[in-house]
Amino acid sequence: MKLLKTKEDMSALADSWHSEHLRVALVPTMGFLHDGHLSLIRIAHQKADRVIVSVFVNPTQFAPNEDFASYPRNEAADRELCKKEGVHAVFIPDAGEIYEPDASIGFTESSLSKVLCGKTRPTHFQGVLLVVNKLFNITRADAAVFGMKDAQQLAIIRRMVRDLDMPVEIVPAPIVREADGLAMSSRNVYLSTTERKDALCLRQALDMAEKAWADGSTSAESLISDIRKMISAVSGAAIDYVEAVDADTLEAVSTLRSNTLVAIAVKIGKTRLIDNIVLN
Ligand code: PAF
Repeated sequence: MKLLKTKEDMSALADSWHSEHLRVALVPTMGFLHDGHLSLIRIAHQKADRVIVSVFVNPTQFAPNEDFASYPRNEAADRELCKKEGVHAVFIPDAGEIYEPDASIGFTESSLSKVLCGKTRPTHFQGVLLVVNKLFNITRADAAVFGMKDAQQLAIIRRMVRDLDMPVEIVPAPIVREADGLAMSSRNVYLSTTERKDALCLRQALDMAEKAWADGSTSAESLISDIRKMISAVSGAAIDYVEAVDADTLEAVSTLRSNTLVAIAVKIGKTRLIDNIVLN
């Protein structure tokens, strides 16, 4: 496995693979890899001849009041896990390598980034799009794998690729959960023992959605109200949002239907967790 720290080295390696007609897949991550990331790597192997994992805690997607400084990091463990998973290259640049000090070009997205997480994190997706676009360019990716836990991120990246005619296949990967149902996230390490128990209300909310859908309920309003009631009863949980939207356009739906994304964001103590289910 190759370790690349500079853009030039990363691009040169990807170019050499392309000259051998090898297909390249990228798994963009912010590191502190868990089983969820490993599932993305395994999907990338199915999609390409060469797999690159980028590990970069992207400063531009964090607001000043967010957890950029404390975001968990463990480069040595990440490298070891990537090696075990047969990754061909890990790209671990520092912020100075990715962002020019006088950079003046950015991204705006005027629709999908305004809803759900965008309401409380108004600049987050601009930062995500900027770095993902740069990573696509640097790694010359033919395909890139993104987890469905970040359903809004996935929809926005798909929209960028569509609107800008980018030659990258976006591959969605199913949510990976702990044995008790909590969606895997690097931020789960912030949870105390009590908070870890409280966090199960996210999965319980999605179970309610799944059951309502299976029982033939179609009212988004009553589902949202039931979920809100259930989460509000958990003393350590504070709802940011509970919404039912179309999974592609992220527009609110009043009638549950196939491809409805039921998305929730809840603060458990100081930790904000998101989870979702797509009804099918
Ligand atoms: O999903 C993430 O971990 C990040 O948002 C990403 C896609 C690696 C961009 O920094």
